[in-house]
Amino acid sequence: MLAAVITELKDIPKAKGADLIELRLDYIKSLNNTKLKSLIENCKKPVIATNRKKDEGGFFNGSEAKRIEILKNAIKFGADYADIEYSSGKKSIRDLIYNKRKTKIIVSYHNFKETPANIKNICDNIKKLNPGLIKIVTNAHSVTDNFKIFDLIRKANKEKKKITAFCMGDYGKFSRILSIILGSQVTYASVSERKESASGQLTINEMVEHYRIKKINKNTKIVGLIGNPVEHSWSHIMHNAAFDKLNINAVYLKFQVDKLKEFIEYMENLDIIGFSVTIPHKVEVMKYLDGIDKQAKGISAVNTIVVKNGKLIGYNTDCPGAIKSLKRRTELKNKNAAVLGAGGAARAIIYGLIENKSNVTILNRTVEKAKLLADYFKCDYGSLDDIKKIDYDILINTTSAGMHPHIGSSPVTPDCIKNGAVVFDMVFNPFRTKLLVEAEKRNCKIIAGFEMLIHGALLQFKLWTGKEAPEQLMRQKVMEFLKNASH
Ligand SMILES: NC(=O)c1ccc[n+]([C@@H]2O[C@H](COP(=O)([O-])OP(=O)(O)OC[C@H]3O[C@@H](n4cnc5c(N)ncnc54)[C@H](OP(=O)(O)O)[C@@H]3O)[C@@H](O)[C@H]2O)c1
Repeated sequence: MLAAVITELKDIPKAKGADLIELRLDYIKSLNNTKLKSLIENCKKPVIATNRKKDEGGFFNGSEAKRIEILKNAIKFGADYADIEYSSGKKSIRDLIYNKRKTKIIVSYHNFKETPANIKNICDNIKKLNPGLIKIVTNAHSVTDNFKIFDLIRKANKEKKKITAFCMGDYGKFSRILSIILGSQVTYASVSERKESASGQLTINEMVEHYRIKKINKNTKIVGLIGNPVEHSWSHIMHNAAFDKLNINAVYLKFQVDKLKEFIEYMENLDIIGFSVTIPHKVEVMKYLDGIDKQAKGISAVNTIVVKNGKLIGYNTDCPGAIKSLKRRTELKNKNAAVLGAGGAARAIIYGLIENKSNVTILNRTVEKAKLLADYFKCDYGSLDDIKKIDYDILINTTSAGMHPHIGSSPVTPDCIKNGAVVFDMVFNPFRTKLLVEAEKRNCKIIAGFEMLIHGALLQFKLWTGKEAPEQLMRQKVMEFLKNASH
């Protein structure tokens, strides 16, 4: 179930997409019994009454006795749930449970600093109080903190205890969705951006539209992006729209991963279809795979993993995605291509360019890295400055210069852009980079990183599902998102 966190009463109408409304009574000014009664009775959705104290992230100002009395009144006025913190003490909790009437009592534990080592004991102690719902929310400092919380959910499921558990923070964001697949009861969302009541909280719109939270259940298969950071990626918007259109019970999540080995080991036990892989894991991930496709081996980087009969197989769709984007605008045979950058994305495109018989020169900020790559692919190399000396037909940026939030930068100065050349920038956020804007002024044929992203995504979708992805819909969803986004 999706609960909208209401911190201002005027926002209640914005909670239409939610199943439950969490009334944060601690935020509400001049709250009295008349107001509380009317709020609960007039709410069109089931209500969670929460009156959070300061040390659990809330704003309640009065005495502890007053705080509990408000919760008791919420029960009297028919709140469907009342949330009391584990730190309120056994006496207050037992008293509330004893007086619960038809209300389900949530006993909650929040830790805004960390996921403590004794979290299992805390959960077991809450269970002993026999609440209607256990709630555990901790801050994740690593992807592995989520696994401690997922283990609590799995154990509670076995014991037939109802639990809501997930992690806060950037490392915990995905747990707000994945926990539901594992059997957690409620996930919380804000009514809009900047109305979050906790770190990592998504909006109702993101939950419903981008992650299809209402369609997620214990049979939902998992696929997602492994990277660090992952915030800038739009892949979830494309893939989740495609799953929806084709009625596939799967969800694409964004996993911010610091400990790759531990992540892969834990996720192998879940119902996974596959992964996309991005910076900085494309090379390291190869160590943990059961097989690697020939092209990915040649590139020495994997950006797609498919789970086949329990085995993890690595692919590289960056290469065919980039080549397809280029071939739509230009021939490649015998063309001079200047590739800026010498990282994973450069490896993928250079492999494809050489396969298509282009002459490649690699230019990089760190020249030694350009040399290493040039030795591997047997082509020319130099520094970014050397662009001035090179006669190229195609200029390809594979560096992250110009990527959000550094949208004012560019890997080379505008005077290095040759009139009429083909200019391809792999950076996809922003949609039109500074390099592309300058290239357009010089009558160049420009190709945006989004083209490569979409072609790569289509290939990934086919690899994961065996089905053709709905290209037009995926394009349209990203465009709609970009129109509404602040960046
Ligand atoms: N459109 C798509 O579908 C798609 C797919 C894959 C990647 N990409 C994009 O391609 C870019 C690179 O990805 P990657 O996987 O190759 O990353 P990577 O392996 O980390 O390589 C980064 C490259 O960028 C260079 N670089 C970083 N900051 C720079 C700056 N300020 N000025 C000049 N050069 C700079 C690095 O140079 P040094 O060696 O000197 O550090 C290195 O060559 C990212 O923006 C990524 O989002 C797009």
